Amino acid sequence: MSIRNLDDLLAEGVSGRRVLVRADLNVPLDKQSGEITDDGRIRAVLPTLSALVQAGAKVVVCSHLGRPKGAPDPQFSLRPVAGRLGELLGAPVHFAEDTVGDSARSTVEGLADGQVALLENLRFNKGETSKDDAERGAFADQLAAFGDAYVDDAFGAVHRRHASVHDVPARLPHVAGRLVLREVEVLGKLTGDPERPYVVVLGGSKVSDKLAVIEALLPKVDRLLIGGGMCFTFLKAQGHEVGTSLLEEEMVETCGNLLERSGGKIMLPVDVVAADAFAPDATHDTVPADGIPSHRLGLDIGPETVAGFAAALSQAKTIFWNGPMGVFEMAAFAGGTRGVAEAITKADAFSVVGGGDSAAAVRALGLDESSFGHISTGGGASLEYLEGKTLPGIAALEN
Ligand code: 3PG
Ligand code: MG
Repeated sequence: MSIRNLDDLLAEGVSGRRVLVRADLNVPLDKQSGEITDDGRIRAVLPTLSALVQAGAKVVVCSHLGRPKGAPDPQFSLRPVAGRLGELLGAPVHFAEDTVGDSARSTVEGLADGQVALLENLRFNKGETSKDDAERGAFADQLAAFGDAYVDDAFGAVHRRHASVHDVPARLPHVAGRLVLREVEVLGKLTGDPERPYVVVLGGSKVSDKLAVIEALLPKVDRLLIGGGMCFTFLKAQGHEVGTSLLEEEMVETCGNLLERSGGKIMLPVDVVAADAFAPDATHDTVPADGIPSHRLGLDIGPETVAGFAAALSQAKTIFWNGPMGVFEMAAFAGGTRGVAEAITKADAFSVVGGGDSAAAVRALGLDESSFGHISTGGGASLEYLEGKTLPGIAALEN
């Protein structure tokens, strides 16, 4: 792969040059207070930003946050992120009130060497996500005017064909940042020749989101462990009643086919924690996976399942985990996710945690991040990488 990286750019010298960095600062915010609940994605981009600051670059950072609809929307402002980024960098971050307007222009013009600016949310502009090449291109022109070079360190967004990810690198000298480089190296190990047994754990709510990756992974893995909300569609395909659990009725047949073709590689829950309601204080019990009462819904995998999954994980040499095993945000339904995460940390294996939700779960449950081999910042991006899809952001760096 012919991707230039940050070291190549630093070797050319960046002192006094404006470097436009696309980061993925799409962090979860508390709905009531608006506070950042997990700053993992901000921390993940620090190595790239610090290196540029130290080398005396004028650093112009851009990112999306949430999914605003192409116009300014205060609840998705990056302002709180600028504050947090400044704390972590130990230097003020100059915040532009718009993305490519007057405020952005004067903020970028005012930067001294070694200073950092953050532009307002890219998705406040229609051009960022437009399907129309010309509209995207026009926005990319405006962004590219803020840089003499471009660094992509937004691994979480490399699967998006968006202006800042796909079109800006066509307009500026471009390199991969430290985070993107590391992510691609690690995920490349999984798609290449992983040490065996290779065990994958998938959770999360929707089977339809995971179908392509299951198809791609089945021939490659030794074991595929399935929990989370998506397991109920598989349990239904096995002929079990799932009560009022999450169910994708139109996917039952597909899941049945996958089970038939999996050659016994797929492991499903044998017990689940079933509750009266989707609530932290709901009445709940552990029941066998084939005995979910009709008025109850499964909100976590049960202890016997955790033990079985842990046994499979203890044999593994390579592990990939994406998606929580239950509603880990509620203490009563966090046991499955915690149990699986702990089993992964205990295994003598190279482990990769994929995705915003699973990475946030690791931190929310207070687990030691350093006991995992790699925690990816990309949810959709890491899954699409493992599917073997061409990622527009990576392809743009290769040219
Ligand atoms: C993510 O959270 O997965 C990335 O930031 C990409 O966001 P998106 O799914 O809204 O494009
Ligand atoms: Mg996403």
